[in-house]
Amino acid sequence: MFLIIKMNNSHDTLLEKLKKYSDTPAYPFHMPGHKRLFGDDSLPYRIDITEIAGFDDLHDPTGIIKRIEQKIAEVFHSEHAFMLINGSTGGLLAAISAVTEIGDTIIVARNCHKSVYNAVMIRSLNAEYVYPPTDENGICGSIDPESVVDAINENPTAKAVVLTSPTYEGVVSDIASISKICHIKNIPLIVDGAHGAHLPFCSFGVKGEPIRSGADIVISSLHKTLPALTQTAAAFLNSKLVSCDEFRKYLEVYQTSSPSYPLMASVEICVDSVGTMDNEFAEYERRLNEFSEKMRQLQHLRLLCHHNSCYSYDKSKIVILTNRANINGTEIMRRLREEYQLELEMAYPTYAIAMTGVCDSEDGFLRLSDALFRIDKGLRYEEKPPFPPLPHPKKANRKDGEVGQQRSIYAYPPGIPIAAAGEIFGEAERRYVEELLLAGVTVRNA
Ligand SMILES: Cc1ncc(COP(=O)(O)O)c(C=O)c1O
Repeated sequence: MFLIIKMNNSHDTLLEKLKKYSDTPAYPFHMPGHKRLFGDDSLPYRIDITEIAGFDDLHDPTGIIKRIEQKIAEVFHSEHAFMLINGSTGGLLAAISAVTEIGDTIIVARNCHKSVYNAVMIRSLNAEYVYPPTDENGICGSIDPESVVDAINENPTAKAVVLTSPTYEGVVSDIASISKICHIKNIPLIVDGAHGAHLPFCSFGVKGEPIRSGADIVISSLHKTLPALTQTAAAFLNSKLVSCDEFRKYLEVYQTSSPSYPLMASVEICVDSVGTMDNEFAEYERRLNEFSEKMRQLQHLRLLCHHNSCYSYDKSKIVILTNRANINGTEIMRRLREEYQLELEMAYPTYAIAMTGVCDSEDGFLRLSDALFRIDKGLRYEEKPPFPPLPHPKKANRKDGEVGQQRSIYAYPPGIPIAAAGEIFGEAERRYVEELLLAGVTVRNA
C-alpha cells in the first residue's frame, strides 16, 4: 500500500480543504444535484462540490488551483503547467487549436491518436503526414528528424508539428533534435506524451523526455502511468511561440465548465506523491529489470525491449510479441484474463501490452511472469509473415470526383486511424483491417 504524501505543509491540500468543508454546516444551494447528501462513501459525494467561494476556478485560477498548477510545474520541471480533467484528449484539442487558425496546415505524425485527428476535423486543418518506419510486428518506430525537415520544407506555412512520444508501445522519438528543427522555422512542436507522465521520475535511461527536450507543448495523461484518477492529465508549456492565454482559452472550450474537485484533488495528491517517491521508482525499475531478464528464458513469446527504428525506449511498457509463436496478441490477452485473472491494456494481432507503473506490486509482476511461462510452455514455433505496415491512404481529391471516408476507421485501442475522414479506403487499408478483424481486434468507424 502506498502512502499519500503531502509535500507543502504551509497550506491545506485541496483534499484536506474539501474534507474540512464537508464537516461544516454549509448547505449547498448549488450544484451538484446530489447535494452531498446522497449515496454512501463508496463514491466521493461528500467532497464533490462546484466552484464555491474559496475553491478557485480551473478556468481562471488564482488560489488553490493556481497553487496546484505551480506544484505540477515545479515537480515536472516545466515553466508552465495546466491541470486537465478531460484527459490528454482535451489538452491535445486545445494545444492544436491554440496554434492554428481554421484551414491552416499542420504536420502530423501518422501514428497520432484520434484526438489529434479530431482537432484536425474541428479546425478544418490540412494535415500533412510524416510516417514512422514500421517493424515486422506492425509496431511504429520513432519519427525520423529528417522526415520532419522534409515535411517542413514541403509545407513551409505549417503552423505546428504534432507527434506522439512515447507511443503506446514505448517508442520514444528524438524530441530535442525535432524541436530544434521546428524552432529554426518558428514552428511549435506539440508532443502527445499521454503515455509518458512517469518519464520525469524514472531513471530508465530513456532519452527524449519531452518536457525538458524543447517541445513547446507536452500533454501527459497522469491517469495512465502515475497514481491519479482516470481523466486526469497535465499540459506543459515551455515556449516562446505559444502563449499561455491562448492555450487556456482553448482549454476552456474543450473542458467542462464544471470540473470535478475529486479529480483535481487526485492530481494534487499524485503530484505531491511522485515528487517524493525516488525509492519507489528505483524499486519499480528493479522489478522491471528483473522481469525482462526472466523473460529472456521464454521459448516462443518474446518481449519488445527495443525497436530497430527507435531513438529510445520506455521499458515500462511490457510488449509481448507473438510473431514466432502459434498464438496471437488477442489470444494471449484472452488467456491471461480467463486463465490467470490478469487484465492487459490492449492487444494487436502480433502483440499484447501489459502497461506498468510505479504502483505495480512485486506480486503482480510475479503473476504475469508465471502465467507467461506457463502459456509459453504449451506453444510451438510458427513462422509468420511480417505484419503489414500502417497504410498510407490517399486523400480524396474532390475536384477529380473522389469521395473520401466520412469517418475515421481505427482499432481502439490504440485509436490510430487506418483511414482518416476525407481519405480513400483503398486496397491496402482493406487488407490491414482484414488482418485486424481476423485476429479479433475491434475496428471502429467513428
Ligand atoms: C497516444 C494517445 N494520446 C492521447 C490519448 C488520450 O488520452 P486520454 O485518455 O487521457 O484522454 C490516448 C489514449 O489512450 C493515447 O493513447
